[in-house]
Amino acid sequence: MIQFDGVNKVYDDGHQVLKNLNLEIKQGEITVLIGPSGCGKTTTMKLINRLISPSSGHILVDGQDISTVDPVALRRKIGYVIQNIGLFPHMNIARNVGVVPRMLKWDKARIASKVNELLSMVGLDPRIFGNRYPSELSGGQQQRIGVIRALAADPSIILMDEPFSALDPISREQLQDELIRLQHELKKTIVFVTHDMDEAIKLADTIVLMNDGEIVQAGPPERILRHPANDFVKSFIGQKRMQLEHPLRGSLPVASDVMVESPAVASPTRGLAEAVKMMEKRRVDSLLIVDKGNRLVGSVSIYQVLDHYTDESKTVADVMKPIEHAVKTNTPLSVALQLMSAHQLPNVPVIRDDNEFVGLITRGSVVSHLAEVYSEESGETANVG
Ligand SMILES: Nc1ncnc2c1ncn2[C@@H]1O[C@H](COP(=O)(O)OP(=O)(O)O)[C@@H](O)[C@H]1O
Ligand SMILES: [Mg+2]
Repeated sequence: MIQFDGVNKVYDDGHQVLKNLNLEIKQGEITVLIGPSGCGKTTTMKLINRLISPSSGHILVDGQDISTVDPVALRRKIGYVIQNIGLFPHMNIARNVGVVPRMLKWDKARIASKVNELLSMVGLDPRIFGNRYPSELSGGQQQRIGVIRALAADPSIILMDEPFSALDPISREQLQDELIRLQHELKKTIVFVTHDMDEAIKLADTIVLMNDGEIVQAGPPERILRHPANDFVKSFIGQKRMQLEHPLRGSLPVASDVMVESPAVASPTRGLAEAVKMMEKRRVDSLLIVDKGNRLVGSVSIYQVLDHYTDESKTVADVMKPIEHAVKTNTPLSVALQLMSAHQLPNVPVIRDDNEFVGLITRGSVVSHLAEVYSEESGETANVG
């Protein structure tokens, strides 16, 4: 546990950056600090690993006032990940990940096995990536290395200061998902800074919303969303959400933005010849079968229909397959794409919360959507520039 007890921080220029901060960061949880630029988030992080000291007040880690602990010993149990992680460019990835264990004088075999374990944990094959250099990795891969490097010496606390802010939205979502998965196994005490409310909601056990050096509200995401303490919190949530809804401001599109709205459907009572005709007319090789309440009951492909074609008594309901995968209208596109990729699906149906069928994401619809977004984007740039 990390405790802030009446902490004030005044920088040399007399500016009071933190004002009587009282905060309890719980063991094994992800606590997310969020607030406008300059509100004191990074200052709070630096206080925890004694890169700076409070002007007054106390910070306790596991009950011990950190001003009485040797800073080197303290930092050994605290991993630190920042936005531009600064991998050492002339060291390969294996050496980069092993930096802290080498400083701690672990033997070579132990370092090598730890490095392999960590790379594998984030889906990077050590035999391939261990020998590469940082410049040969994508931004997302470099940031993964930053995260596992912070984990190398098995610290109990990890400070992450806007670690994913510079990444494109898809990589960012992937790293968030990975962090959640890692945390499930590792149960570290994580302090995570962001200015993105969506990221905070997704990751946080506890959100600490700061403004101008003070804590405005702290609590679980659900409580903050339902019971914002004041207008600042309301506007912070509202404003950030509005920004995120605009497709060109770093938001991820959701299923309903990308789907085809009138895909080829048929009712379960259609005969097989009718089904073939409908496919011909729509130039598709499968139909979704929906009941009278517009609920999905299955799908048929042209092959299933032709396999049974000679049996005139059969309807599409007799030959259809059940729907195994569908997404909701508000499912992020990235999640839908992962689903399609993992199960080799040519398309995935989109349903509303009441299970009513509303559209279909196909590879073609994804491409069209991206083409639209990127042409709008370059259009905007052209106007500005
Ligand atoms: N070393 C410093 N000296 C003087 N002022 C600083 C120093 N570091 C940060 N500040 C100021 O402290 C305030 C909070 O900074 P910071 O903690 O980095 O905010 P955040 O991470 O929330 O954007 C800002 O007004 C910043 O300009
Ligand atoms: Mg900062």
